[in-house]
Amino acid sequence: MGDKMGRSTIGNTVDSIAKWLLKFRIISKPARYLSNSKLAWSIVSRTDRIRTKRLGTRIKNEKLPEHISIIMDGNRRFAWSHSLEREIGHLRGKEKLKQVMEWILDLNIKYLTVYALSTENINARESEELDSLYDLYEIGLNEIAEDSLIHSNNVKVQAVGRIEELPERVKVAIKNAENKTASYSDYIFTVCLAYGGREEIVDAVKEIAGDHADGKIKLENINSIEISKRLYSADIPDPDLVIRTSGEERISNFLLWQIAYSELYFTDVHWPSFSKNDLYEAIESYQYRRRKYGK
Ligand code: FPP
Repeated sequence: MGDKMGRSTIGNTVDSIAKWLLKFRIISKPARYLSNSKLAWSIVSRTDRIRTKRLGTRIKNEKLPEHISIIMDGNRRFAWSHSLEREIGHLRGKEKLKQVMEWILDLNIKYLTVYALSTENINARESEELDSLYDLYEIGLNEIAEDSLIHSNNVKVQAVGRIEELPERVKVAIKNAENKTASYSDYIFTVCLAYGGREEIVDAVKEIAGDHADGKIKLENINSIEISKRLYSADIPDPDLVIRTSGEERISNFLLWQIAYSELYFTDVHWPSFSKNDLYEAIESYQYRRRKYGK
């Protein structure tokens, strides 16, 4: 939001100088060049970069979140708003994920978890769209398995959810990414696929009920620690910050148990347009709230 305002302020200033110059016919050419010119945009993007860099320095001087989770929403709306095919929106979403991973690694944030496909998505989307999404996960996970950034940073990749509900080709790609990164532990990248927070709790409760029936756990020993231990992502800490893009302010069945104390951050930006500055602003907001409440 602030970013857009800053950009339009500089843009408006350049435009008003150009308009003023246009009053004098003799200099109409330079005026036209100035407004809508590459020069104007280069000034704008340079200022954007400087602002992002400064924000980056500020957030790095304070305690960063250890675990960020993202609800990557708005691929289709991005496509519609740019008159692109739906599939292009999802493709741009996949490319954005790679970029965001790079920014997260640069900040030295150990855990990144993303919501890539919900159990509801599987039931509610047309099979044609689901098929192209599955193609994208297959390609994306195989790319991740070979990505030099993943290997040079020792990033362990894992997928969680009701993986058995996914087509074979996606399961193979998951195994490929998991196997190729299994020995790493410096960073953990978790992709939630065929995932639902309620389903995860149901699965944990079923397991605990089974353990109780087998005499492995007594009723009085069942507590939140025991439930947490049986979640899909039991080995990673709860998220400090959850970001959702594209304007909806709800959690949509994402990590329901784990976000009990997480800071939630919502932005209007569609996922494929999510910028480094947007990420930094989310972290800045998290740091501000933690400071305010003395955490
Ligand atoms: C939600 O936007 C997004 C998805 C259902 C898919 C997200 C997938 C990716 C970003 C690719 C991930 C790739 C890998 C390898 C994990 P939407 O389709 O609901 O868009 P809308 O909210 O505008 O309708």
